[in-house]
Amino acid sequence: MPLKNKILDLQKRRELVEQGGGEKAIEKQIAMGKLTARERITSILDKGSFNEYDLFVEHDARDFDMDKVTLAGDGVVTGTGTINGQPACIYAQDFTVAGGSLGSMHARKITKIMDHSLKMKMPLIGINDSGGARIQEGVNSLAGYGEIFFRNTLASGVIPQISVILGPCAGGAVYSPALTDFVFVVDKISKMFITGPEVIKTVIGEEISAEDLGGAKVHSHITGNAHFYAESEKECFDQINKLLSFIPWSNVHKAVKIAPKPPKNHRKIEDIVPEDPKQPYDVREVIRCMVDDSDFFEIQEHWAANAVIGFGRMNGETVGFVANQPLVLAGVLDCDSSDKIARFIRYCDAFNIPLVTLVDLPGYLPGVDQEHAGVIRHGAKILYSYSEATVPKVTLILRKAYGGGYIAMGSRHLRADFVFAWPTAEIAVMGSEGAANIIFRKEIKEAENPAEVRKQKVQEYRDKFANPYVAASKGYIDAVIEPGETRNKIVHALEVSTYKDAGMPKKKHGIPPF
Ligand code: HXC
Repeated sequence: MPLKNKILDLQKRRELVEQGGGEKAIEKQIAMGKLTARERITSILDKGSFNEYDLFVEHDARDFDMDKVTLAGDGVVTGTGTINGQPACIYAQDFTVAGGSLGSMHARKITKIMDHSLKMKMPLIGINDSGGARIQEGVNSLAGYGEIFFRNTLASGVIPQISVILGPCAGGAVYSPALTDFVFVVDKISKMFITGPEVIKTVIGEEISAEDLGGAKVHSHITGNAHFYAESEKECFDQINKLLSFIPWSNVHKAVKIAPKPPKNHRKIEDIVPEDPKQPYDVREVIRCMVDDSDFFEIQEHWAANAVIGFGRMNGETVGFVANQPLVLAGVLDCDSSDKIARFIRYCDAFNIPLVTLVDLPGYLPGVDQEHAGVIRHGAKILYSYSEATVPKVTLILRKAYGGGYIAMGSRHLRADFVFAWPTAEIAVMGSEGAANIIFRKEIKEAENPAEVRKQKVQEYRDKFANPYVAASKGYIDAVIEPGETRNKIVHALEVSTYKDAGMPKKKHGIPPF
């Protein structure tokens, strides 16, 4: 066959595979408000940069008449490209082909691209739209998932792993995302569950819709399995792009530095935080007063909102922010917010992103529910991850820092490098009222006027401890600063920490309170 004809033959073969599951299946995909696998990839990557591999891979299943079926690309599109000019690996499951189900060759395509991303140190983006393990392939599809999970684990902390849930994802199709760093969901399109509604109906007789069982809101607002929620695929792709602009491409790269910009300063930082420690405020406004261009990119915004985590830039460099949120539950730490904070600290530490912590909390949340939910174990995760993190750590106490909350939130004792406090900081074992009630119980009880004596004792305790100066006199706080000095002091602390060199004792790995 002459070369010209061979090229025509190649083009025809390509076209055939690129039709995926065929016109009808694609129509169904579009009717659900979904893009096709290739459209998704080209929307995320820089225009014209996608290079596809393994287009002609075919499944090798023989049972259940599978030998009579052709599955285009075995239901997954894989390749490399660039995002903002930087290289990335990507795969997208094609729901139009056997529901994007994962057979052994489908899995092999994914693991091949995962191996590239790990070897060549570039981010991996996985677009999941799959009914899970391909039922006809039995243990071979389970083996495929096992190979993916293993690689997710090897790559953890080396390259960023991003999962995008863009369809009904069941079984193995949700466990790989659970092992990755960031999970993106889209309203009405994303569903995640271990077992779908039909199985639940059969096994336990309960009827529930897929949306209520594991829709986008369930995972972004209730379970915390998703880190970013979007209203449309387009919004989701913009979020991915923005996230990638903040994070380093691997654990040996630094995040790209951009030209520093001052905050937009729409409000003065001291006007945001009320002096009365009981009054709430939105700590994100404080962060926006500190970061370049007031651009704060929040993660897990809708889940465990009593803690705030996310990225911003200071002097052009990416910083990870951790903060209590006095607007929600007075900013207390509980099981979920502890998990949220601890995991983020480990992400920043793995990828050499400095941490800035803003403290204003009454402590850990008391109560039977929390105790029985394991707040001891969950809360300990924060202690562990701050102690273990060797990146530069800067802490600022704005108002309350009581009890375990003081220690947990990036204190000097867990090796913060610089601890600052505003003059409004209150550092004590607990709030003045609770403290006075306990240590002066006898005197209050025996007094002629208990209410008056209680008031006096509360004031006495407040005068003694409700300030930053006792902690400063011990050197637990490096400097008491004016609110207006905040950005400059933190920028300077981060600058002088650039070459920080701190390690951990030699060990295989620690045993965090998972
Ligand atoms: C083979 C599958 C499939 C699967 C879907 N399909 N899931 N084929 N194996 N796991 C096929 C369907 O037969 C159908 O083929 C096409 O994909 C589209 O599926 P529909 O059911 O028509 O779509 P929809 O109504 O949108 O429902 C999507 C769904 C449902 C919710 C995902 O298909 C479903 O519940 N699938 C099974 C989910 C599941 O239990 N998976 C196994 C998980 S166990 P045709 O030819 O009709 O178009 C697992 C083990 C790993 O993953 C665990 C590791 C820890």
